[in-house]
Amino acid sequence: MISDILPPWVASAESFGDVPEETLFPEERPLIARAVDRRRREFVTGRHCARLALARIGVTPGPIPRGERGAPVWPAGTVGSITHCPGYRAAAVASAEVARAVGIDAETHEPLPEAVLSMIASPEEIAALEALGRADGADAEGTDAVGADGAVCWDRILFSAKESIYKVWFPLTGRWLDFSEAVVDIDPSGTFRARLLVADPAMGTHTLSGRWLVRDGHIATSVALPRP
Ligand SMILES: CC(C)(COP(=O)(O)OP(=O)(O)OC[C@H]1O[C@@H](n2cnc3c(N)ncnc32)[C@H](O)[C@@H]1OP(=O)(O)O)[C@@H](O)C(=O)NCCC(=O)NCCS
Repeated sequence: MISDILPPWVASAESFGDVPEETLFPEERPLIARAVDRRRREFVTGRHCARLALARIGVTPGPIPRGERGAPVWPAGTVGSITHCPGYRAAAVASAEVARAVGIDAETHEPLPEAVLSMIASPEEIAALEALGRADGADAEGTDAVGADGAVCWDRILFSAKESIYKVWFPLTGRWLDFSEAVVDIDPSGTFRARLLVADPAMGTHTLSGRWLVRDGHIATSVALPRP
């Protein structure tokens, strides 16, 4: 699923089940020592996917520590991103020679709670979601982006897109980005564009492009920033 929305210069791996905790490296075990079972499973399988993806770009498996504000610390010369949601885990990585940053996010394909929507979307974005809803997937249904999943939860796609944007933004800038600081425009064909309302020299751009996909009850989004 995730590879369908990533460019060929990004390697990925995904899992719909979980792998044993023994796959963790000793250095990673303290990171989940006090975590509940659900958190342990997503962390372990997320790390497992990350190592599979890294192997695909020729990187020998090793520990992936947790860095500032929870961001994974990728092996030197690589960039990447991890995501997990119930029933799905994935990782995407690329050589830093070809990519500046990669962000991926997965969500269950269901509407956002209304209170959450108003926290993560501007009135203009909510109006755009309503317009997409009125077209009711009639355009989107049957496209590769939606497959057989029927009515689309555009609000959850917006949320996921913003999470992917943050996973590109933070490793580059080391700064928080508020949901109100990126304006996302979703195209029913399976892409989105984002306008960043804050500038940071490390980003070097005010616009980001991404892709989204709905399949088998899951949403996936991605943003991949190539090195010029
Ligand atoms: C960090 C955050 C993006 C994670 O997204 P999520 O949907 O909650 O969870 P996901 O399963 O998709 O992703 C979790 C993974 O993201 C990665 N991650 C966590 N913090 C990160 C950060 N600061 N930068 C990059 N990646 C990060 C980690 O790999 C984590 O998994 P792990 O702890 O098992 O290693 C989210 O919790 C968050 O803090 N969002 C607020 C900021 C934001 O999204 N702003 C919107 C800007 S438009």
